[in-house]
Amino acid sequence: MMLKRLSVVLLACLTLTACGGVDPNSPLGQRKTIFKQMLKTSEDLGGMLRGRLAFDGQKFADGAVKLDALSREPWKHFPQVREEDETSARPEVWQQQARFQDLAQQMEASTAELVAVTRTQPLQAAELAAPMNKVEAACKACHTEFRNH
Ligand code: HEC
Repeated sequence: MMLKRLSVVLLACLTLTACGGVDPNSPLGQRKTIFKQMLKTSEDLGGMLRGRLAFDGQKFADGAVKLDALSREPWKHFPQVREEDETSARPEVWQQQARFQDLAQQMEASTAELVAVTRTQPLQAAELAAPMNKVEAACKACHTEFRNH
């Protein structure tokens, strides 16, 4: 009996991202996935500008387009009512929706600007620092106000 119950628990765990984790198909799971992709993409872009990765103008331009597309995606996965568990979104996301939307739009504007700057090849890393800083500042501004950690 014990064994059977254990295997049921194990099976249930396998269907989630991690045991006790989030259902990847839930709104929370979906926005977390998008945020992680945003982090990876922006880290690659930042890395190219700071010398952690080799600078490649075409790769940078492609990454900017990807980040711009991603930055439009998370917001629709914040449901009307806050989930009780697992979310690191502060209650303010739901209490101050206009402000939250405002910062989401600033994010989208900053990535659109980055894409615009990358349209004319060849790219100079030095010219990309300011628009990239703006993108990173947009992430940070929202996290400071609306994320728990
Ligand atoms: C308008 C607000 C806002 C902006 C802009 C924003 N985020 Fe977030 N981010 C959040 C909130 C809220 C959460 C918490 C989501 C949750 O747990 O429900 C979050 C969570 C995350 C997480 C954690 C995901 C996880 O696995 O729990 C990462 C990574 C992240 N954001 C990266 C970024 C990056 C990179 C950018 C900029 C390119 C960015 N975010 C821009 C609001 C924002």
